[in-house]
Amino acid sequence: MKLSAEQLRQFEDEGFIIIPELFATEEVEVLKGEIPGVFAQRRDENVREKDGDTVRTGFATHTFNDVYARFVRHPRILGPAEEMLGGQVYVHQFKLNAKAAFNGDVWQWHQDYGTWKRDDDMPEARAMNLAVYLDDVSEFNGPLYLIPKSHKRGVLEAGHDVTTTSYPLWTLDEALIREMADEGGIVAPKGKAGTGFFFHSCLVHASPPNISPWDRMIVYVSYCNVDNHIRRFQRPEWIAHRDFTPLEAEADDCLLSQAGAAAE
Ligand code: SIN
Ligand code: MN
Repeated sequence: MKLSAEQLRQFEDEGFIIIPELFATEEVEVLKGEIPGVFAQRRDENVREKDGDTVRTGFATHTFNDVYARFVRHPRILGPAEEMLGGQVYVHQFKLNAKAAFNGDVWQWHQDYGTWKRDDDMPEARAMNLAVYLDDVSEFNGPLYLIPKSHKRGVLEAGHDVTTTSYPLWTLDEALIREMADEGGIVAPKGKAGTGFFFHSCLVHASPPNISPWDRMIVYVSYCNVDNHIRRFQRPEWIAHRDFTPLEAEADDCLLSQAGAAAE
């Protein structure tokens, strides 16, 4: 899939693009159908909320689940990633962020590249998130908050938050967020399940707790240009991957044509 000139311009200017109906309802069902089995596994990759039970983040699912292995190679996300990152890419990080009804907790203000640079020694911000909503995202169930155009500020000063999130994250100071939000405002993109949400790795973002009765599952694939691979291997492999092999695209119908393949 190729992005339009207007979409590329919006990504450059605003730091993100939203693509309604990027994946069909049947494809979302295939992706969601895997989640109970994945989250039932007690493994390091499944990081839980403070209750010790509800899954907060499923990391690296694509490394042990066939459907998500195909998903990260899906041309509707891999194609735009190659286009926006200017060449072949690998998966630097994969997250199924559940933000479960009633229990899904906060993500503090941060830039993803701030952590990738400081912790993983990724040379440049030639990496980004291609996310897809797996539930309807509304104002109630913990949507992302974004500060448009904040990606143009480069890497901002940050502190190391080792308690709030699924893993230590470099988070931004309140005074700086106030200044940027007063200037650029905050947007919280809503959308139906299947919506694509692509954003720059320097875009400042956060999300509030989900006190609603509705889950808010979003899958994030953080692609990185293969030439820009990380140089430091201090974080677990399932948080910051070390397989820099370029991804090859699957067919556009790969989620539906092979649905149930593992069971046959
Ligand atoms: C993130 O910023 O990595 C996660 C935010 C969210 O899923 O709410
Ligand atoms: Mn983030």
